[in-house]
Amino acid sequence: MNLSKQIFVLVVLFQVFDSIAQNQLVIPPTLSGTTFNLSIQTGNVSFFNGTNTPTYGVNGAILGPTLIVNKNDDITLNVTNNLPVNTTMHWHGLHLPAMMDGGPHQIITPNNTWSPSFKMLNNAGTFWYHPHGLGKTDLHVSKGIAGFIIVHEPFETSLGVPLTYGVDDFPLVVQTKAFDVLTQIAISSEMDTAIFVNGTYKPNLNVPAQVVRLRLLNGSSMRSYYFGFSNGMDFYQITTDGGYKDIPAQMNRILLSPGERADILINLSSLNGQSFDLNSFASEMPNGIFGAAMVGVAPDTIMGYSENHLNGSDFPILHFNVVNQSSNPISSIPASLVPFTQYSTQDVNENRVFEFDTITTSAGMMPNLAEGQFGINRQVMDMDSINVRIPLNSTEIWTLINKTHIAHPFHIHDIQFNVIEKNGTIPDVSETGWKDVVLVMPHDSVKFITKFTDFADDMTPYMYHCHILHHEDDGMMGTFIVYDSTSSVNQLKSNQFSIYPNPTLDEWLIQSVDESDFELIEMTSISGQKVNVNFEKTISHNEIRIDARKLERGYYFLKVKSSNSVKIIKLQKV
Ligand code: C2O
Ligand code: CU
Ligand code: CU
Repeated sequence: MNLSKQIFVLVVLFQVFDSIAQNQLVIPPTLSGTTFNLSIQTGNVSFFNGTNTPTYGVNGAILGPTLIVNKNDDITLNVTNNLPVNTTMHWHGLHLPAMMDGGPHQIITPNNTWSPSFKMLNNAGTFWYHPHGLGKTDLHVSKGIAGFIIVHEPFETSLGVPLTYGVDDFPLVVQTKAFDVLTQIAISSEMDTAIFVNGTYKPNLNVPAQVVRLRLLNGSSMRSYYFGFSNGMDFYQITTDGGYKDIPAQMNRILLSPGERADILINLSSLNGQSFDLNSFASEMPNGIFGAAMVGVAPDTIMGYSENHLNGSDFPILHFNVVNQSSNPISSIPASLVPFTQYSTQDVNENRVFEFDTITTSAGMMPNLAEGQFGINRQVMDMDSINVRIPLNSTEIWTLINKTHIAHPFHIHDIQFNVIEKNGTIPDVSETGWKDVVLVMPHDSVKFITKFTDFADDMTPYMYHCHILHHEDDGMMGTFIVYDSTSSVNQLKSNQFSIYPNPTLDEWLIQSVDESDFELIEMTSISGQKVNVNFEKTISHNEIRIDARKLERGYYFLKVKSSNSVKIIKLQKV
């Protein structure tokens, strides 16, 4: 990589800035209620003195507002794409219908608004949103698009945990970025030497002398962090990815790989006037994880890895100054949180195995076991195929086997899971609870148990993938559908179109999966008679809305033409 030399020059520059800049941590603004308007847009940010970097953000130049949502609320998100390119918006960790998930199939074209709506079924906890375009996730996230989703439940106020946003409850998205010599954000570069929290470089934060909650999110493209504090104090983990733990887990370090979250409590009651840092103790991180001293075994290593001074060394992330207490401070760590029962292995309907391995590319290049290209079960992501078909309400054990030299953070959409085994033993206490990302170490395996409840759609897939964003973009991703085997609707399979909802009461939205134009030829009843319907075609010509309100109940056939093929789609009005 000839880029790395240029970036090395910039590393020196950063060290000059180090001595100058101490920036107050930006706390993202909040949006609450049941309707959320999000505008994805371009911007410019001066990250370092005298520099100007083009960015992407939501309702601003970088990152996005924190969405505060109550469990069981019916919410609508109006996501407008004001970028000059296609994008998508995914609600990471949320349990919702596949059409609302914002994966690679729910494309938002420029100047269009996508309005998913769903009931918030997730438990109280810390979730996030970010783009998920096919092959474009790293670019769009690195350019700046990501935000928090905080779910609340009424019982939380009786737990004795901090809940006042920006006062004793702080969202912290930790990200490293690489820059080129022109301070443009460099994508898929392993020279990610600039560390940001909430988009702030070299941040500091005043915190009150009481119990404080930090909602840690690793929003980096690639790097894992081994979090701990410079003053050596212990902290208490109260949530995993999907919600509260049963009891706070006291610890001194926590490992978070890309996509993972953990809310932790720190007790600063006796520290007024003191300062300390949130660090990554990467010198203690096991080799094989991106961020540790070493990844891979020669000749399968990452080129220039040791030139990145963050790898394998301890570094500060956020500087804290402890100041006077706020009103009504929480002053002790609660003894217990939320009782939880994990899925039982006695209920398992299916076991599936997912092997992570290198893929031989068409160029015939030997794949590198540390750099890839990687696939799952010898396949790379294909928009038109479904890798796994799962019956609704199936309880399953998934075994993840990593045959490569680098650790992969495996993420699955739709559900939360319980890790039941890591390399043949029980997982660390930091991983017991509800999870949607799990780090699979090189030449190691992980088993988790989960259940695919509530949402079935034979046509629209969810994703599972590695959350190292360039691995994902390079194809380390697969698709699954959850189907309802008891449903009377047996839809004709079509890989080119997604239909939602089906069956419907009022309308169908037909979208072309690959964004190509298509036309509606005709709609017929089950007995072959032509049916007149009102339909609306969007400007982008790749989706049609059909008004079903005046139709009688029953089945209909829709004939659509795209490029040179004609497809018949079966619809049901209820
Ligand atoms: Cu956070 Cu499929 O992604
Ligand atoms: Cu996700
Ligand atoms: Cu990976």
